[in-house]
Amino acid sequence: MSTRSLIVLGTRPEAIKLAPVIQQAQRHALIEPLVCSTGQHREMLAQVLGYFGIQPDLNLDVMRPNQTLAGLTSRLIEHLNSVVSSTTPDCIVAQGDTTTVMTAAMVAFYNRLPFVHVEAGLRTGNMNAPWPEEYNRRIAGLTASLHCAPTESSADNLRREGVPESQIHVTGNTVIDSLLWTSARERENASVWNEKYEFLGDARLVLITGHRRENFGAGFRSVLNGLADLAQRFPETQFLYPVHLNPNVQKPVHEMLEGIPNIRLTAPASYPEFIWLMDRSTLIITDSGGVQEEAPSLGKPVLVTREVTERPEAVETGAVELIGTSYERLMSQATLLLTDERAYAARQITQNPYGDGHAAERTVRLIAEQHWGAAATQRKAA
Ligand code: UD1
Ligand code: UDP
Repeated sequence: MSTRSLIVLGTRPEAIKLAPVIQQAQRHALIEPLVCSTGQHREMLAQVLGYFGIQPDLNLDVMRPNQTLAGLTSRLIEHLNSVVSSTTPDCIVAQGDTTTVMTAAMVAFYNRLPFVHVEAGLRTGNMNAPWPEEYNRRIAGLTASLHCAPTESSADNLRREGVPESQIHVTGNTVIDSLLWTSARERENASVWNEKYEFLGDARLVLITGHRRENFGAGFRSVLNGLADLAQRFPETQFLYPVHLNPNVQKPVHEMLEGIPNIRLTAPASYPEFIWLMDRSTLIITDSGGVQEEAPSLGKPVLVTREVTERPEAVETGAVELIGTSYERLMSQATLLLTDERAYAARQITQNPYGDGHAAERTVRLIAEQHWGAAATQRKAA
C-alpha cells in the first residue's frame, strides 16, 4: 500500500532542497508523491522548478507584491486546507522554516495528518532572529511525527525539546544532494557562464546576497554602507549582488549601491548560475541560510551578516564567520580576507558538515517505512 505524500513547497530554497526528495519519491514504489507549489515566491520559484524539471500537481499562486506575514499566512492556510480536502493525502511533507512550512504543519495538525519535517531541529534559541523563521520552525517541530535532522547537533536540539528518539533521524541536508547533482551537471556548462560574466575578467569576485527581515532598516543600511566603502577600498575587485526580489531589499540596495563602478546589481541568479558564481568567487558576504551550507563544499570563506546562526557547524569548521550587521566588522573582516593570504587560506575549508549527497534517499526511505498509507486504509475500513 503506497503512501500518498503531499509535498508542499513555496520559496526558492524549499524548491532547491526538496527537488532531490521529489525525484527520489517519484522513483520509490511505496510512495505516491503529490507536489503542491504554494507560489509564496513566483519568479524565484519558477527558476528552480524549471531547472529541476518539476511540474507541480497543484499551484496555489498565493504571492502578492510586498505581502504581509499575516495576509500570506491566512491565504496559505485556506488554500492548503482545500488541497488536503481534495487530494486526501496520507501525510504532508515540508522543508525548512518559511511561512509555507509553518502553514503546511498547521494544516496537517488540523486534519490529523502525519507531518514530515525536512531540515528539522535548526534553532538559534532567539525567537527574533531569524524572524519569523525561528517561530515557523518551532511550529513545524511541534507538529512533526518524523523529524529529518540534517546534523547531530540539530537532532540534539530536538531531544532537548522532548521529541521522542524514535521520531528523530539524522539524514544530512538535502541541499548537498542538489549541490553535488548540479555541480556535476554544470561542469559541461561553464562556458555559458564564463561568457555571461566575461566582464569579470581576471578580477577577484565578492559575491553578495541579503534578504533577512530582521535586518531590514538600520542593520541592512549599515551593511550596504560597508559594501559601498569596500568597493571603493578595493577598486580592482568586482562586487556582484544578485538582488532578492523583495521590495524591502530592492529599494535600499538600488538606492545605496547603484552607480558604483565595481558593484554589479543583477536579478536573482538561476540556481546553477549561482553555484557557478560561488565557485568563481573569492569571498561571499550573505545572510542566507542555504549559502552558509553550500559554501564550505566549495572552499569559500563566508562572512554572515547576522548576529546568530542556527547553522553552528559551518562556523565550527572555520569557513563561516558571523559578523552581524556592523559596518566596522564588515570592513575589518572583509579587508583581512582580501589582503592577508594566510588568514584567507586558514578559512578555505573544503569539508562539509551538512551531508554526503544521500539525504533525500534516506528521507524518502523513512517516509515509506512509516506505512501511513496502509494505516489510513485500515482506519477507513474500520
Ligand atoms: C521568504 C521566507 C524566508 C526565506 C526566503 C528565501 C517567510 C516569511 N520568508 O522570504 O524565510 O529565507 O523566502 O528567499 O516565509 N517577491 C517577488 N517574486 C518572487 C519572490 C518574492 O516579487 O519570486 C517579492 C514579492 O513582493 C513578495 C516579497 O518579495 O511579496 C516577499 O516575499 P516573501 O516570500 O514574503 O518573503 P522573502 O523575503 O522572500
Ligand atoms: N540562490 C540562487 N540564486 C541567487 C541567490 C541564491 O539560486 O541569486 C540559491 C543558493 O544557492 C541557495 C538558495 O538559493 O541554495 C538560498 O536561498 P535564499 O538565500 O533565498 O534563502 P535561505 O536559504 O536564506 O532561506
